[in-house]
Amino acid sequence: MKNYKIAVIPGDGIGIEVMNEGIKVLNTLGELNKDIGFTFDWYDWGCEYYLTTGKMMDEDGLEKLKKYDAILLGAVGFPGVPDHISLRDLLLKIRQGFNQYINLRPIKLLTDTDCPLKNKGVEDIDMVFVRENTEGEYAGVGGIQREGTEDEVAIQTSVFTRKNTEKVMEYAFKLAKERNKFNKVTSVTKSNALNYSMVFWDRLFKEKAEEHKEIKTESFHVDATSMYMIQRPETFDVVVASNLFGDILTDLGATLQGGLGFAAGANINPEREYPSMFEPVHGSAPEIAGKGLANPIAMIWTVKMMLDFLEHEDLGEKIMDGIVEVLKDRKKLTPDLGGSGTTSQVGELICEVIKK
Ligand code: NAI
Ligand code: MG
Repeated sequence: MKNYKIAVIPGDGIGIEVMNEGIKVLNTLGELNKDIGFTFDWYDWGCEYYLTTGKMMDEDGLEKLKKYDAILLGAVGFPGVPDHISLRDLLLKIRQGFNQYINLRPIKLLTDTDCPLKNKGVEDIDMVFVRENTEGEYAGVGGIQREGTEDEVAIQTSVFTRKNTEKVMEYAFKLAKERNKFNKVTSVTKSNALNYSMVFWDRLFKEKAEEHKEIKTESFHVDATSMYMIQRPETFDVVVASNLFGDILTDLGATLQGGLGFAAGANINPEREYPSMFEPVHGSAPEIAGKGLANPIAMIWTVKMMLDFLEHEDLGEKIMDGIVEVLKDRKKLTPDLGGSGTTSQVGELICEVIKK
């Protein structure tokens, strides 16, 4: 029997509520399959931890996490702790510390009912974002000088290395081949204004395209991309983007799927030198936290991505079938989807369908 050791960081707000449902699904799969099991170690890192200890995670947090097969994370951030501290001192520390340089975010509409666009449906919205995840605009290079004075200066520098940019693009091209949808990669850029970083990005993308002649390519500026994603989402297959552009466009993508309650994500270290971390795209949604209103589907879909990464695609498929059935039924859904069900009711229903 294969037993997977999973580090669980529920984080803050609805992160905690949706995590419980993700774990329920994994336990259900563990019970159904005698040859696979999961052991969970819970870490209470996050904003509350910060308010009592002054730290978002333990000093030796990365050392502790190193030994796991994967990390599951809910969401971090809560009023009372500045967002740049909660994000940088936990999430980005893990993403960068474990060289999880790929952020994979599928944008797939599951039912026509949840489609926000007129005259579009499930066959039109199915793309995957490959977002650069360890450097770019989020590299954390910069500073503030003469703080609080009239002459205050803020500088934030983007960092794009050839090595990493090439690896991210290579991943995107391989994924397009694997998906075999249109065999196409769209590159998101802004090289008219960002005359160093994005001109460099474009040049490396062209070089990569030369190595993968069987894959079609296109390149759009980020502003045009946001328009095309709404106007003609059916033309997208794999999209490769920098850290900031990918972050912004995937919230737009989440809306195309029916909302943030659907958006799953994975922070991947493809070489498997370090554990990868799986977390939904949404945040801790403080205004609905603790009320059982959060949609757990994004988290459960995220669990599916973890199982895919652990090479249990069959189990991942079971989860997806469960989600789709519960969605089509529309008997129990959370309020963001027009239902009156609670977070845990939806999670339980998905488990029931999986058991069938
Ligand atoms: P958010 O994603 O928490 O919420 C945006 C909107 O979507 C809110 O109206 C919220 O109610 C709704 N929403 C999000 N997830 C939902 C779900 N599963 N079901 C139903 N509705 C859902 O983003 P926001 O408001 O910008 O940030 C709130 C906090 O979360 C901040 O502290 C922020 O820094 C943090 N954050 C953390 C992220 C992470 O841990 N990966 C990502 C984004 C934000
Ligand atoms: Mg985001």
